[in-house]
Amino acid sequence: MTDFRDKTAVISGGAEGIGFSIAQALGAQGMNIVLGDIDPAQLDKAVASLTEQGVPALGVVMDVTRPEQWQQLGQRSVDRFGSIHMLVNNAGVGGGTGTVEQIDERDWRWVLDVNLMGVIYGTQTLIPLIKQHGEGGWLINVASMAGMAGVPYAGAYTATKTAVVGMSESWFAELQLHNIQVSVLCPAFVKTRINLSERNRQSDYQRQQQETEQDVAMAARMQAIVDNGLAVDVVGQRVVEAVGQGELYIFTHPNYRQVVQQRYQAIDEAFARAAYSPLLASVVDEEIVGFT
Ligand SMILES: NC(=O)c1ccc[n+]([C@@H]2O[C@H](COP(=O)([O-])OP(=O)(O)OC[C@H]3O[C@@H](n4cnc5c(N)ncnc54)[C@H](O)[C@@H]3O)[C@@H](O)[C@H]2O)c1
Repeated sequence: MTDFRDKTAVISGGAEGIGFSIAQALGAQGMNIVLGDIDPAQLDKAVASLTEQGVPALGVVMDVTRPEQWQQLGQRSVDRFGSIHMLVNNAGVGGGTGTVEQIDERDWRWVLDVNLMGVIYGTQTLIPLIKQHGEGGWLINVASMAGMAGVPYAGAYTATKTAVVGMSESWFAELQLHNIQVSVLCPAFVKTRINLSERNRQSDYQRQQQETEQDVAMAARMQAIVDNGLAVDVVGQRVVEAVGQGELYIFTHPNYRQVVQQRYQAIDEAFARAAYSPLLASVVDEEIVGFT
C-alpha cells in the first residue's frame, strides 16, 4: 500500500469542489495539505474544515496564472512543512463555450492561462522542490473527459484539457526517472461550482462581448448536467485509490469508456487507410523514433 503519511501535498484550486475533495481524501491518509486558491473566503473555510478534521493544513491565496505566486506558494509550503512530495494541479475554469467564431479572445486567454499555463507554471515551480529531497513523490494533473475526446462548443476548454493529458503522458516517462509518479485525472461531470467559474474571472480577462441569449441557454443546460453529476466526495477517494494502484490515467466515469473507444477506433481506421496510400509506401515499415 502507498504510504502517504506525514508527506505534504500542494493542491491548486483546493478551496472547494474536486480540489477540496482530493484534499480531504489525502488528509485522511495522513498527509499535510497546502491549498492554493484565488478565493480567500472559500480558502479560509476549507482550511478550517481540514483543521477540524485533524489534518495539518495551510491556505495560501494565489492565482495560478502568476508564476511569482507559485514561487510564494512553494516557499510557504516548505517553511511550514519542510518539504513537498505531491503537487495536484487542479485549479481550472469552465469558460470559453460557444461556436468557434463566438469564443472571445479574452475567453481563450482566460481558459488557456488558468487551465494550461497554470499547470505549466505549477509543475515548473514545484517539481524541482520535489526532486530536491530525493524521496520521490507524485504529480497529479486534473484534466477531464474533454481531454480524451473533443466536446462540441467547448473548443477552448477541450484544447486545455487535451494539452494537460498530453503533457502528463510526456512527464510520466520523464519523471519516472526521479521516482515521481504522474497521474492525470479525467472526470466526466461532477457536481461542483465549475459552471459558475465566472466568479473567479480576473479583471484582465473580462469579456469584450455581451452575453447572448444562446450563452444563457447553454449555461442553463450545463447547470442541469453538472447538478446531475457524480458526488464530489467520491472523486478524492477515487484519486487516492488509483494513485495507490500506480495509474497514469484516472477515470471516475467507467460509462464513458465507449467515447474513448470510438475515438481510438476512428484513429485506428484512419491509420489503416494511410497504410494503403501509395504516397506513403516508403514509411510503412520504418522504425518508430521519438516516443520512448
Ligand atoms: N466539475 C466537473 O464536472 C469537472 C469535470 C472534469 C474536470 N473538471 C476539472 O476539475 C478541476 C476543478 O474544478 P471543479 O469542478 O472542482 O470546479 P470549482 O469551480 O468547484 O472549483 C475550482 C477551484 O479553483 C479555484 N480557482 C479558479 N481559478 C483559479 C485561479 N486562477 N487560481 C487559483 N485558483 C483558482 C476556485 O476558486 C475553486 O476553488 C478543474 O480543472 C476542472 O476543469 C471538473
